[in-house]
Amino acid sequence: MDVEKIAIISGKGGVGKTTISANLGSVMAHVLGRDVTIIDTDISSSHLGVHLGFHQNPATINSVLKGEHDLEESVYEHETGVKIVPGALNFEDTKDVDVHGIPKLAAEFEDDTDVLLFDCSPGLDRETSAAIRSADKALYVARPSFTSVIDVIRTQSLVEELAKDSVGVVLNMVRNKKYEVTRNEIESFTEMDVVGTVPYDTNVEKSAAQGTPVTIYDPHCRASRAIEELAITLLDESPDRKRSSVFRTIREAVPRL
Ligand SMILES: Nc1ncnc2c1ncn2[C@@H]1O[C@H](COP(=O)(O)OP(=O)(O)OP(=O)(O)O)[C@@H](O)[C@H]1O
Ligand SMILES: [Mg+2]
Repeated sequence: MDVEKIAIISGKGGVGKTTISANLGSVMAHVLGRDVTIIDTDISSSHLGVHLGFHQNPATINSVLKGEHDLEESVYEHETGVKIVPGALNFEDTKDVDVHGIPKLAAEFEDDTDVLLFDCSPGLDRETSAAIRSADKALYVARPSFTSVIDVIRTQSLVEELAKDSVGVVLNMVRNKKYEVTRNEIESFTEMDVVGTVPYDTNVEKSAAQGTPVTIYDPHCRASRAIEELAITLLDESPDRKRSSVFRTIREAVPRL
């Protein structure tokens, strides 16, 4: 099977790229049994490791790009089986990083992994471009607001300029309020499908505070279920496999269930 290489992007900051990356990766690995690696390509404001409980990482994508560590040293495995290449947390390590090295670094995973996710930075800077270049397709994350949709449309132009495909939009932090931009409006503005809708759910923030994916923290909460559905959609799983694997494996993962 060809490796799925997906850049998770938004243009706008704080819309849930890292949350979606960390949880999609966890579900794809733990529930759907795929070999998944997430690379933190948000070099200057990395958070991926923190979302998954990795706070002390001697080797990071920053140190690998600076030639201070080998790539293998920067790969950390989470209990769900998802592997991550985290970014550095301190300011000093963000200096003198040549982001042009990201596509070459990412290519080294191609033989060893089924799915490669890139947790991108906000904005359309060199880091985002390097991540999109490394991927085959882009998955956009947006909140149901006009500013977020505008940033998706702006980001789409960059993806097209780099001749990559677009998978669709994940609508995150949906509260179903009257003032929110609707799914239909987003599909019409972006000319893309909304491939997943994740509700606003306080369990996401509670789990993040513990450095645990929400899909493990509370597999039955609304956000977890939505992210599982999204993973299944993205990997094109059959409905049969979907139901049996989700419930079997989550029970194994969370003994209290
Ligand atoms: N569905 C959700 N429900 C509630 N809170 C959420 C949800 N998704 C994300 N959050 C919270 O929103 C905040 C921003 O999420 P996150 O860090 O994933 O965004 P981001 O797009 O990666 O941000 P940045 O642009 O800074 O990288 C976090 O506190 C996260 O816990
Ligand atoms: Mg982020």
